[in-house]
Amino acid sequence: MSDRKPYVGGNWKMNTNRTTSAELTRGVVDALRSTTTVDVAVFPPFPYLLAVKSILRDRGSAVKLGAQDVYHKPDGAFTGEVSTDMLKDCGVQVVLCGHSERRHVLGETDDLINAKVRATLEAGLECILCVGETLDQREAGHTDPVNQRQVRSGLADVTGDMLERVVIAYEPVWAIGTGKNASATDAQDVHAKIRRLLTQLYNADVAQRTRIIYGGSLKPANAKELLAQPDIDGGLVGGASLKATDFSGIVQAC
Ligand code: PGA
Repeated sequence: MSDRKPYVGGNWKMNTNRTTSAELTRGVVDALRSTTTVDVAVFPPFPYLLAVKSILRDRGSAVKLGAQDVYHKPDGAFTGEVSTDMLKDCGVQVVLCGHSERRHVLGETDDLINAKVRATLEAGLECILCVGETLDQREAGHTDPVNQRQVRSGLADVTGDMLERVVIAYEPVWAIGTGKNASATDAQDVHAKIRRLLTQLYNADVAQRTRIIYGGSLKPANAKELLAQPDIDGGLVGGASLKATDFSGIVQAC
């Protein structure tokens, strides 16, 4: 890990209810009370954003409130969608864009993801842009081109200044929710290549400052080794973020 401030996000996906989202928030806040050296964000389902925010605010927590998705249009006839203004109104500070489940289950394209990234940043919010190859793509030797394409297109028309508010999450699709994590060496290799691409797209300074985090079956047991890699600046955690002790264990590993 470099001198970039580590970033750990807890993506609750379509889990929790009114009671358990509140319990989990309190558990995370209490476990991380004295942690100031890591940026931490939680991403509850939309219906619980306000309640989670009010717990974070009441407890004076530095944990950021995140949204799992956004729609890029400001308002209008888009049934079921949620705008950046609505998210800001609920106290959201950071938005996930291009999560693999949105790409591969809900069919989001690179262009749509780029529109969401730009809308998020233009609204003054932070963005975590998720990228990652599927198992078929990895086995066909396409890991690097796939990740490069997703980073390039996700960041189209994003300036170096805007990139200050972007974190890139490398999440190999075959490792998400499967219990199989990328090896520290393989993950480091992809992170280093993404950083090199940022040098080409922006410059070395911007690339060195940008946090690139790992996701895919991250757990307290494997966090230390992955997070010790020089280009891995934290994690995006799914399953293990649903238990306050596991999630805080990963944060402590940073
Ligand atoms: P997982 O999910 O930790 O359950 O593999 C990671 C993610 O989807 O962000």
